[in-house]
Amino acid sequence: MFQQLPLFILLATTLAPSLAFPSYAQGFEAREGPKAREGPKAREGPKAKEEFEARAAKIVLPTPQAYTGPKKIPDEHHPYRAPGPGDRRGPCPALNTLANHGYLPRNGIASLAELISANTEAFNLGYNFSSGVSALAILGRGNPFLDKVSIGGEHWMVPPLKERIDGVPGGLSKHGRFEGDISMTRQDAAFGDPAVFQPAMYENMLTYVDKFGDGDIVTDTVLAEYRQDIYTTSLANNPTLVWHAGRTGFSYGEAGFILNSFRNSRTGHLTRQEMTTFFTEERFPENWYRRESPLEFADVQRAVAAIRGPVYPAFAGAKNEEGVYVRDSLDNNPYFGTVCAVYYDLLVPNIAGVLLETKGQLRENVDVYLEEMFNLFRPFECPRMEPEGVAGL
Ligand code: HEM
Repeated sequence: MFQQLPLFILLATTLAPSLAFPSYAQGFEAREGPKAREGPKAREGPKAKEEFEARAAKIVLPTPQAYTGPKKIPDEHHPYRAPGPGDRRGPCPALNTLANHGYLPRNGIASLAELISANTEAFNLGYNFSSGVSALAILGRGNPFLDKVSIGGEHWMVPPLKERIDGVPGGLSKHGRFEGDISMTRQDAAFGDPAVFQPAMYENMLTYVDKFGDGDIVTDTVLAEYRQDIYTTSLANNPTLVWHAGRTGFSYGEAGFILNSFRNSRTGHLTRQEMTTFFTEERFPENWYRRESPLEFADVQRAVAAIRGPVYPAFAGAKNEEGVYVRDSLDNNPYFGTVCAVYYDLLVPNIAGVLLETKGQLRENVDVYLEEMFNLFRPFECPRMEPEGVAGL
């Protein structure tokens, strides 16, 4: 998807000078206390859960960081600590790392503002990119009334919406809407839990570093060859493969993230050992420096173009009931062939239309998320879109 994008993007908002995030400087424990990790009973008594659910969240977007250059991560306020019992971790190695260092709440439950702040601060992800992707995460797998999503599986802090109008949110570990097929280190949902890191898949990925890397440096070709291999494998073996335009975009975008956001800006490249630290320990490598500038759509586009060239043909689509892979076309996506196809696929058939029938704070929040997603695609002249998907999936 990203390779069709024009090379200009979204710089204005991310470069706006303003205050950094003072509260993030101290990490979450300092702000919320260790009790933030515990369940409702441990915290406040039996009524805590009901009270929590009654607490609507008004979203306040964070101020963009003032300094957007390289810096050493983590700082002294964000030491690594392995997740404790009850803390949630899921399919995204970056979000897991952020939670293990307290850039995100260590329990793995985060709001839109927390996701934006953590990703922009620690990975120097562009503001619009962070907010658009995080908005999708909460709309699809979180609770928009409470403005919370679990980066892993279900959690009491992210209960279903009232009257379960969209079923159980399930967190980012739940298959569909965000988590999808043909991941690099997680199996397809048809074969088991799609959120858990698979050492054997990662070992296989490392053989591509051996074959196509520049010594122990991870290159475009490593990811291009590896992604092509897992695409053909899933195509051959997964009878229920779903890989529409939105998921295709994310698949390549995530490979681009490895090259561009796990890269150590101090050395200018990503080594095999650094990549292994992110994937297997879910912590920042020693002497690791974040990117020299915020990662924007155009950067992802460039990375994807390198990984998904004409030598590596892969087509968005899904298997039908007969197990035949039907490629995306204008029949299922009116924006097929443009960047807006990704926006359409991520939002219109994917997110529950019932969210538009809500009122009050919930509806206000839904509008914030929709606006953030639109902002991400606005530079490509996509029309503003709204969800029409089925609830409860
Ligand atoms: C803005 C917030 C983010 C959200 C909500 C998010 C969410 C997710 C989710 C749900 C997945 C699973 C998708 C799948 O099925 O493969 C995923 C995968 C991934 N994410 Fe993130 N992510 C975010 C930011 C980042 C950042 C900043 C990086 C890199 C620094 C990153 C790197 C990755 C990688 C490499 C994968 C692929 C793992 C694999 O294929 O095995 N993510 N992310």
